[in-house]
Amino acid sequence: MDDRPIGVFDSGLGGLTVVRQLMRQLPCEDIIYFGDTGRVPYGTRSPETIEKYAAQDCRFLIGKGVKFIIAACGTVSSVAAHVLSCLPVPAVGVVEPAALAAVKASGSKRIGVAGTSATINSGSFKAAIEKLEPGAKVFQQACPLFVPLVENGWIDTDDEITRLTAERYLQPMKEEGIDTLLLGCTHYPLLAPVIGGILGPNVALIDSGQATASYCAEYLKSRDMLAPGGKKGELKFYVSDRPGDFSKVASMFLGQEIDDSVCKVDIEQITGSIC
Ligand code: DGL
Repeated sequence: MDDRPIGVFDSGLGGLTVVRQLMRQLPCEDIIYFGDTGRVPYGTRSPETIEKYAAQDCRFLIGKGVKFIIAACGTVSSVAAHVLSCLPVPAVGVVEPAALAAVKASGSKRIGVAGTSATINSGSFKAAIEKLEPGAKVFQQACPLFVPLVENGWIDTDDEITRLTAERYLQPMKEEGIDTLLLGCTHYPLLAPVIGGILGPNVALIDSGQATASYCAEYLKSRDMLAPGGKKGELKFYVSDRPGDFSKVASMFLGQEIDDSVCKVDIEQITGSIC
């Protein structure tokens, strides 16, 4: 048994897709979340900047005494995976768990991957899918406007701008006849109703957050690192800017008020070596 919290981070709201799944799968676990809302988006930045941000985010969570870290960010998982491999606690990104879920879900092995520009340029999900399923046909699409739409809460199916943006990004993959779309950015499951409306019911949407939360649950169970049962896990949120904006959309998404558990942190002050 291990009652230390699980640490989760992302550039902003996207990693809440992992938190929501952790709350379902591991309701007794305490979770500490860091959303780098002062520096979002990560997906349009250089690999050097993404690495620096990822190391600071991990350092912050390690300082909070977490037992396991989830980089709930497709961009960090794709571009700065080596940061995760040298931490003093176990850590996982979203690429491998989500690629495995996509390969399992796809019958035709014609698989789409949507992600940030940095993620798509890295080819990380494509490589992971092809490693698992060498014959797979993978179609990639960067969707850089999705993250700002989500961060601004424009996620409803009746939002005309979001729908038109999604149509423009997804139409080419739809024409390629994909049967599975891997949402390679953790922000995108918040747009799943819009995306599903465009691709139709025959295309499976893979939530990288869900796949990664399941991996974490398995990892902790198999090593006897779960928190003792019998109490509801506590959630604590840290952001690097505008806690009010974060808690409004986050409360809606998680289905519970979180206003009192959101604090601001100056992430630029977090220094020191990590590996
Ligand atoms: N949610 C993140 C991802 O999965 C980050 C998006 C961004 O900040 O650009 O890639």
